[in-house]
Amino acid sequence: MPKACDPRAAGLADLIRDHAARIAVVGQGYVGLPLAIEFARAGFTVAGLDTDPERVAALEEHRSYVGDVASDEIGRLAAEGRYRATSDFSVLEESDVVVICVPTPLRKSKDPDISLVVVAAEQVAARFRPVQLVVLESTTYPGTTEELLLPLFEARGARVGESLFLAFSPERIDPGNRRFPIREIPKVVGGITGPCREMAALLYGQIVHRVIKVSSPKVAELAKLYENVFRNVNIALANEFALMCRRLGVNTREVIEAAATKPFGFLPFYPGPGIGGHCIAVDPFYLSWKMRLNGYEARFIHLADEINRSMPGYVVELVPAALRQGRRCLNGARSVRPVDRRRREHPEGRGAER
Ligand SMILES: NC(=O)c1ccc[n+]([C@@H]2O[C@H](COP(=O)([O-])OP(=O)(O)OC[C@H]3O[C@@H](n4cnc5c(N)ncnc54)[C@H](O)[C@@H]3O)[C@@H](O)[C@H]2O)c1
Repeated sequence: MPKACDPRAAGLADLIRDHAARIAVVGQGYVGLPLAIEFARAGFTVAGLDTDPERVAALEEHRSYVGDVASDEIGRLAAEGRYRATSDFSVLEESDVVVICVPTPLRKSKDPDISLVVVAAEQVAARFRPVQLVVLESTTYPGTTEELLLPLFEARGARVGESLFLAFSPERIDPGNRRFPIREIPKVVGGITGPCREMAALLYGQIVHRVIKVSSPKVAELAKLYENVFRNVNIALANEFALMCRRLGVNTREVIEAAATKPFGFLPFYPGPGIGGHCIAVDPFYLSWKMRLNGYEARFIHLADEINRSMPGYVVELVPAALRQGRRCLNGARSVRPVDRRRREHPEGRGAER
């Protein structure tokens, strides 16, 4: 942590190092709940805040609704006084660290709906007290942390880098993927100031093996978007490749698997009817929206969306023919769970699933 900062900031750094900092995680969904539990497992005292009464009630009864978090673990940490779920925002006033993990969906127009981040940030800023570390983890457009969050805190008298340490650190979990638990996924951290970055890096260093410090929150926000644009565009490429292979009478999978034997410069993606989850299809629009405001059309993003959106209809068109080939009739035909089969055959493959 920063050496030259004031003693109160050094005090916060010590609290983090000693795992004595009180942490509040705002939003107890697929991202916030596993993160809160990870901090609690590391020995911190954690409050999991959520506005959904059903979720809070489930957590109070130690019932997990997220596959990566075991109910027993919630019960154990609650019994040790390390974790509690609440909808009482006054807990923020006692928190040394606040991490915001609320949803960032799209409007019907496909413009970002940032309203939940705004509400959460207002709730946190309204209860700001020196000295606090606040980290935004929700996937969002570049500039959110600096342009949207910072002014809310400054209006409450926060002095960034002194009484407030503000940073962005994207969540990169892959729900259900046991090969990559939270501690194995490097955490990218960008702070408004150098001390903000160092404070946030110190925090995440307590629960993950590797922290990657970047020069600003905007770089961290863009890194997350680039990861998901990369995935979305490559899934679209695999999908378009499948359309082309069909016209040529060639098995797409056989081609991709042959190409994937190249030991460098190629990453296999597989075609499919959907791109899975909600993030991959949504996040790229956070970037294209921001770029449009900057007078630039993000062409790859829109083309990938167009191709990926056409796939469900295309797959439906193929179904009757595939059934006929297998001498089966559409009426009464049952699913053969293709996603499960693909996972079994290609555990490393990236594609239509998350
Ligand atoms: N799910 C993933 O795999 C994944 C992976 C990486 C990043 N992300 C990103 O992380 C963010 C959160 O996603 P998620 O999947 O956890 O969402 P989620 O819908 O599972 O959970 C979000 C939770 O936040 C709560 N909430 C909303 N507003 C609140 C407020 N003001 N105060 C307290 N709680 C509030 C909701 O009730 C909900 O329980 C999104 O930006 C998403 O894009 C998700």
